Amino acid sequence: MILGSGGREHAIAVNLSSSPLCEELWVSPGNAGTRHWAAKDCPDWRDFGAWSQWVRDHHVDLVVIGPEDPLVHGFVDQCKADPLLADLAVLGPDQAGARLEGSKDFSKAFMNRYGIPTALARTFDSSERSLAEAYLDSVTFPLVLKADGLAAGKGVVICPSRAEAMEALDMFWVQSRFGNSGSKVLFEEFLNGIECSVFVLCDGTNTVMLPVAKDYKKVGHGDTGPNTGGMGAVSPPPFADDHFLQRVEERIIRPTLAGLKQEGIEYRGFLFVGLMKVGHEPYVIEYNVRMGDPEAQVVFPRLGPDMLEWIYRAAQGHMPNGALLVDSRYAVTTVVCSDGYPSEPKTGFIMLWPNEPGEDRYCFHAGTTWRDDHVVNSGGRVMATTALHTDLHQAVQESRNLASAVDFEGAFYRSDIGDDLLL
Ligand code: AMP
Ligand code: GLY
Repeated sequence: MILGSGGREHAIAVNLSSSPLCEELWVSPGNAGTRHWAAKDCPDWRDFGAWSQWVRDHHVDLVVIGPEDPLVHGFVDQCKADPLLADLAVLGPDQAGARLEGSKDFSKAFMNRYGIPTALARTFDSSERSLAEAYLDSVTFPLVLKADGLAAGKGVVICPSRAEAMEALDMFWVQSRFGNSGSKVLFEEFLNGIECSVFVLCDGTNTVMLPVAKDYKKVGHGDTGPNTGGMGAVSPPPFADDHFLQRVEERIIRPTLAGLKQEGIEYRGFLFVGLMKVGHEPYVIEYNVRMGDPEAQVVFPRLGPDMLEWIYRAAQGHMPNGALLVDSRYAVTTVVCSDGYPSEPKTGFIMLWPNEPGEDRYCFHAGTTWRDDHVVNSGGRVMATTALHTDLHQAVQESRNLASAVDFEGAFYRSDIGDDLLL
């Protein structure tokens, strides 16, 4: 069973269903694209007792948790503590591990404890406004202000000057835009470089690296406008070469796992490291305790049918040795969004899309739902159109062509995903 309802979960489902080991698959709650695998009448994970009963009734062997919410809220701990679920393998860290994503203050302190390269930062609480303002006199701009807690990727403000920093502080502390998540704020040094997303699968002790990806976070062409959950992705971005990935492994992945172990955290799940490549060196921007979205929509199509076995074994605490099967081609995805995204997406419009996009092309559903006999858009990010090709230029074009064929009122997408990576 895959928990979640986005494009990430659709992409994971398509891969896992290709495994000969997969007898039956459910996606809960899923979307219109995963209807085929709908877990009918499965209660929400928050209704734990009823959910656990459903899982037992349906003899589910493995649960893969897509989004961060259940992880941060201790869902894995609940599963582990339930003697009736003793045979269930669950992929995702427990609540202690999920703090790497759930609290930026915690993860910054963690990185500092284990010498993991990251931007310098100080944290202030809403009760320390005058101290924080005095601190602003001692820093250089741009400065990055970040809500400590979860804010759906929107709690980060890059401030070109003191005036913008003061405005951002008002947003966090006066308007309380992010509620409790913004009561502590990190004041962080700005890193100038190029970003990428590195993913590893962990079984508590060992890790295996998945394909690397680049995400496009800004809503507008040429990286303009507000941040979103992600408007598109490319895997692999050519600048993340073997030498760089080796540095990532040595300087970041190994010390992170060693640190988790040291703190008594047995981390089983996907670890997503958001990195800035500054010169040739990687710096951690953030940890997430799950796969990225839309990165999963370029990473999973490049993974083989062996992935289910890796995931199952990781959830049980013993991954096999060896390497993953990875398709060497480029994968590019373009996210088609609802008018108004990211602030106020307009939803409920009937959609058309390329239902059978052809070999090596995918239309991964995100915010879609069935209403009567139609599929309608039901969220900000609606569909991720992925294409694979040996030639990056072709992959970019085909992903974009597919995106242009997704049709509903107000649909828009970035038609420059991947352009910066073309020679
Ligand atoms: P986060 O939610 O921490 O991933 O931050 C969202 C985005 O803000 C990142 O993807 C970066 O583009 C940008 N960002 C965050 N921290 C920094 C930093 N220290 N320097 C430069 N850009 C940053
Ligand atoms: N695309 C970035 C994320 O999933 O957080």
